Amino acid sequence: MKKIVIAFLGMMSWALTSYATGLPPSLDDSGNGKKIFIQRCAMCHGTDAKGTGSLANKSNPPTPDLTTSVFKKRLSDYPGVIVSSVILRPNKDLIPKTLRENGVKLSPYPWTIKDFRDLNKYLSGLILKSRN
Ligand code: HEC
Repeated sequence: MKKIVIAFLGMMSWALTSYATGLPPSLDDSGNGKKIFIQRCAMCHGTDAKGTGSLANKSNPPTPDLTTSVFKKRLSDYPGVIVSSVILRPNKDLIPKTLRENGVKLSPYPWTIKDFRDLNKYLSGLILKSRN
């Protein structure tokens, strides 16, 4: 019985992860996720997601290293964290303000569901691959 429950929970968490991240994990994003990350995130987060972008230290708090074991755990506990950080902006005006103050103009972006999926896939891949 216990085994069945565990198998069931495993399936549920896979299903929830797929739902939250919008993946079947194997979908190819043909570079769209990377492109979005480079154009709209890397100036702070760095191309390596370690918080090495040129604007990384221009905000308070500064841009965090997303490749630490702490963040990896957060991502595995809460796979929606990447997408929700873009949609919900838990830090309110911090990011637009930092861009503004440093003269970086980002044109408004008409996000599609696919963009979020692609970005999520690219960035979680980058994070999970990287070692500290
Ligand atoms: C102006 C610099 C800047 C830009 C541009 C930026 N970020 Fe961030 N990001 C930050 C800072 C600063 C934090 C930490 C502050 C916070 O989480 O409140 C952060 C936090 C995060 C986190 C961690 C959230 C958490 O709850 O731990 C994720 C994931 C993230 N950003 C993803 C992105 C993605 C994806 C993009 C591009 C679409 C992006 N960021 C663009 C500066 C930036």
